[in-house]
Amino acid sequence: MTTPAEYQQRRERLMAKIGGGTAIFRSAPMAVMHNDVEYSYRQDSDFFYLTGFNEPNAVAVLAPHQEEHKFVLFVQPKDPEKETWTGYRVGVDDAKTVYGAHEAYSIDELDEKLPQYLQKADRIYYRLGRDKKFNETVLNHWQKLMRVYPKHGTGPIAIQDAGTLLHPLRLVKSESELELMRKAAQISVEAHERAREFARPGQYEYQVQAELEYLFQQHGGTPAYPSIVASGKNACILHYIENDRRMEDGDLLLIDAGCSYGYYNADITRTFPINGKFSREQKTIYELVLTAQIAAIAQVKPGNPYKQFHETAVRVLVEGLMDLGLLQGDIEEIIKEEKYKPFYMHRTGHWLGLDVHDVGVYQWGEEPQLLQPGQVLTVEPGIYIAPDIKPVEGQPEVDARWRGIGVRIEDDVLVTPDGCEVLTAGVPKSVEAMER
Ligand code: GLY
Ligand code: MN
Ligand code: MN
Repeated sequence: MTTPAEYQQRRERLMAKIGGGTAIFRSAPMAVMHNDVEYSYRQDSDFFYLTGFNEPNAVAVLAPHQEEHKFVLFVQPKDPEKETWTGYRVGVDDAKTVYGAHEAYSIDELDEKLPQYLQKADRIYYRLGRDKKFNETVLNHWQKLMRVYPKHGTGPIAIQDAGTLLHPLRLVKSESELELMRKAAQISVEAHERAREFARPGQYEYQVQAELEYLFQQHGGTPAYPSIVASGKNACILHYIENDRRMEDGDLLLIDAGCSYGYYNADITRTFPINGKFSREQKTIYELVLTAQIAAIAQVKPGNPYKQFHETAVRVLVEGLMDLGLLQGDIEEIIKEEKYKPFYMHRTGHWLGLDVHDVGVYQWGEEPQLLQPGQVLTVEPGIYIAPDIKPVEGQPEVDARWRGIGVRIEDDVLVTPDGCEVLTAGVPKSVEAMER
């Protein structure tokens, strides 16, 4: 549980970086499913991180230079008639008493009230977002202030992406965030276990998806992203989400699914033989990916450059593919010129948190981003041998027996002071455990 005190602490940490500026955050818009039906509401992660406030049509302002109103919320006003149709609203009063705003207004008053929080700011911090109309609102207010700048000699002379200040904070998770991430991981672990026990030749992929997502929902979670349940050659399509194929005897099944719990996400992939026994080729590729994943996880420790675990995974995969005769030549050249890409075309991981592909910089120009305790990332190498795979020039044709095999293994890993902890270690991944 994230307490009001923690939200306040996050705002204070951000305000310490804002200095004489004013930061503006916009809630996520409602997303349309079709016609006038909308998806369940999902707050913008920056907005949620700073406020815990979970409604659309809201604006949060952080203005540390203000005497009293350093944190201001603009929210949808209470309206019993509208609430009957579209759901409960916190309202202006509780925005202060429950969410800790020093001042709160109806969102209808935004244009009138916002300028007073910008006039004395030396800079506006705002991340251009999905809400184009609101982007324009911010730019219009800025333009008006710039018009009177010569008269006063004060006002925001620049707009800077708020993410440049906020996202480094989001990158390192607090204890309460980790508690939610562990819970999301644990639910996802159980769901993967359930799905693997359930899956049999003759079923449809969506039936396995239903088993997984049943467990998410049973625990108060939702899918963190569209679940990928990819049998046979579908496993070679990275974001396969149709999940409508009948699974055949002899197929591998790749399941990439994770639960979102309290807005925090897990992201797990396992690949196993649906009939309980790997073929020789499937097993060979599986073992190679597993070896690469374990070697990559061993590189997740404080002080190591972010890219190191990816480079380790690539090297292990390339060595293995060379041993199998699927790649040939000079290993350094294969790696440097990325000749392995027909088999392995994505990065080995990403930050994980409130967003599945979480915010945070991976590399500072030539400077590496160094891992530090509290960061969470995925480690997810794979090999994908599409039926129509086209090796790069000079590389051998791929023998038919390998074609159609796709394997990925993905875990969520927390950087700890002395190494790392695999949050999703509860789903087994040894060859023996994948068979039955
Ligand atoms: N499930 C999306 C990913 O692994 O990045
Ligand atoms: Mn994934
Ligand atoms: Mn992932």
